[in-house]
Amino acid sequence: MLIAGNWKMYKGPAETAAFCQALRDEHFEGVDVVVCPPYVSLATAVQLLAGTEIGVAAQNLHWEDTGAYTGEISAPMLRELGVYGTIVGHSERRQFFGETDETTAKRARAALDAGLFVVAYEPVWAIGTGKTATPELAQEAHALIKSLLDVPVLYGGSVKPENARELLAQPDVDGALVGGASLDLDSFTAICRAATPS
Ligand code: PGA
Repeated sequence: MLIAGNWKMYKGPAETAAFCQALRDEHFEGVDVVVCPPYVSLATAVQLLAGTEIGVAAQNLHWEDTGAYTGEISAPMLRELGVYGTIVGHSERRQFFGETDETTAKRARAALDAGLFVVAYEPVWAIGTGKTATPELAQEAHALIKSLLDVPVLYGGSVKPENARELLAQPDVDGALVGGASLDLDSFTAICRAATPS
């Protein structure tokens, strides 16, 4: 079970420090917990979560190690910070920044080489809208993805403390990618606890 908090363009270093300081005292049995802060806050998160089991991942990366790619960050740069995973291909990257299947595939390859890659199924109509897929619909989509790829599949799209347990109880739901509800410590930790095996 993996719960990843995608902070999107929220929480600079000061807010990240406050959040991680509180998060480091939490213990989640049987659940891998990862936060994905904006690039400028990654070093702070890594530093404050060092020695805990809570991981830190980025929100994107470029497929080349170095080069003339203004505004981009590479896997070796993330690794240098102690960041061993990243989101790639988020639907917001496609919607607002012109990313395509081709660039997503290149980023995914680089992410795989960097060490973490799991797939998230996020119905676009459920992201940030408060609308969630029914557990049955999520299960159906996850089973389909897992019949094609042998990877853990996270569900994303308006996951909240109130709906997490039911979604995570589906046999092919291996965790959650949480946006809005990951910004608040209480709701994020409640979702992490909902993922704890009973
Ligand atoms: P949301 O975002 O939980 O706010 O719907 C999910 C995501 O975009 O990863």
